[in-house]
Amino acid sequence: MFDTVAVAGATGAVGTLMIRMFQERKFPYKKMKFLASKRSVGTVIPFNGEDIVVEELCPEAFDGVDLVIGSTPDDVARDFIPEARKRVKVIVDESGYWRMFPDVPLVIPEVNAEAIRKHKGLVSSPNCSTTQMVVALKPLHDYARVRRVVVSTYQATSGAGLPGNRDLVNNSKAWLDNDCQYCECETEAFPYPIGFNCIPQIGGEREFGYTSEELKLLHETRKILDDPSIQVCPTAVRVPVANCHSESVVVETERKITVEKARELFRAMPGVVLMDDLSAKSYPTPYHCHDTDDVYVGRIREDISAPNSLAFWCVADNLRKGAATNAVQIAEWIQQNL
Ligand SMILES: NC(=O)c1ccc[n+]([C@@H]2O[C@H](COP(=O)([O-])OP(=O)(O)OC[C@H]3O[C@@H](n4cnc5c(N)ncnc54)[C@H](OP(=O)(O)O)[C@@H]3O)[C@@H](O)[C@H]2O)c1
Repeated sequence: MFDTVAVAGATGAVGTLMIRMFQERKFPYKKMKFLASKRSVGTVIPFNGEDIVVEELCPEAFDGVDLVIGSTPDDVARDFIPEARKRVKVIVDESGYWRMFPDVPLVIPEVNAEAIRKHKGLVSSPNCSTTQMVVALKPLHDYARVRRVVVSTYQATSGAGLPGNRDLVNNSKAWLDNDCQYCECETEAFPYPIGFNCIPQIGGEREFGYTSEELKLLHETRKILDDPSIQVCPTAVRVPVANCHSESVVVETERKITVEKARELFRAMPGVVLMDDLSAKSYPTPYHCHDTDDVYVGRIREDISAPNSLAFWCVADNLRKGAATNAVQIAEWIQQNL
């Protein structure tokens, strides 16, 4: 058992849910610490009947800590993790900073838990949009080898943390207060108002005209499925949905997968829920998937434009399976297996 556990970034959108997941999943611990920026020092967070006071995230805060779960911005993770690594047994990190380092396993427990065995004090949890797609791709890859994926995401504002959701509320109010017309309004997280809008840029510009968020869907998928030959063409779009990312996925495989076979494979995959009956209007939406831990798959069709190609839709709670739950599942796996 880990005696002392610390949550770094405890006051954020993901950190708040991690704290809830630790309680709901009855994660064993003796002492719990909550860390955040100077701004939050002194904030009291109730936890399993105790009142825990938030402390400043600094190297000394990790003295005597066994397990850290981190959900801070990338630059904060870049700076605090090397120091924390000297002091603690293992860190599970939600940020994007360490994911592609070769000595850092990038893990979705249902997909590649065994990779955790090689950890050197740090395990990364993938980006939210990658996690749900790869959970869905895994059974197809095992059965028929994925060659190419074309994915368009419809990403919720909570993916940009608490500032993202403040923008959704404030920008939507501005639109409603302006006779349902677009108007100039301040934004914290996005380059344009997100209320009643959609924005085809998530993250900064990177090579070949893709964004950082889009390239995560390529590089992280290859690393988790341990197959550098998989091709991915991603488009990541922010939409005015508070929580749960949706994805339209077209996947080409080495051999054909029929719709019936795909349904069978999805049904057998741990962590996947099938909602796939168009005539009964049964398909997943953020409305159905909010505050759940599974990846929901529906609208499964053969791609009528290409052989050996399948189209589907998948939705998952980006704060839960896309972040907090996945990190806590990694910590649970370490508890039970190492
Ligand atoms: N949101 C998602 O769907 C999602 C999914 C997967 C991964 N992630 C990743 O998880 C991480 C956290 O995301 P989030 O959405 O929870 O963001 P958030 O709501 O903005 O929370 C950020 C957390 O980091 C803390 N923090 C910020 N600057 C700090 C500093 N200089 N020193 C110490 N602590 C600092 C904040 O503390 P204060 O409250 O004191 O500022 C807060 O606890 C990010 O790396 C994000 O990319 C997010």
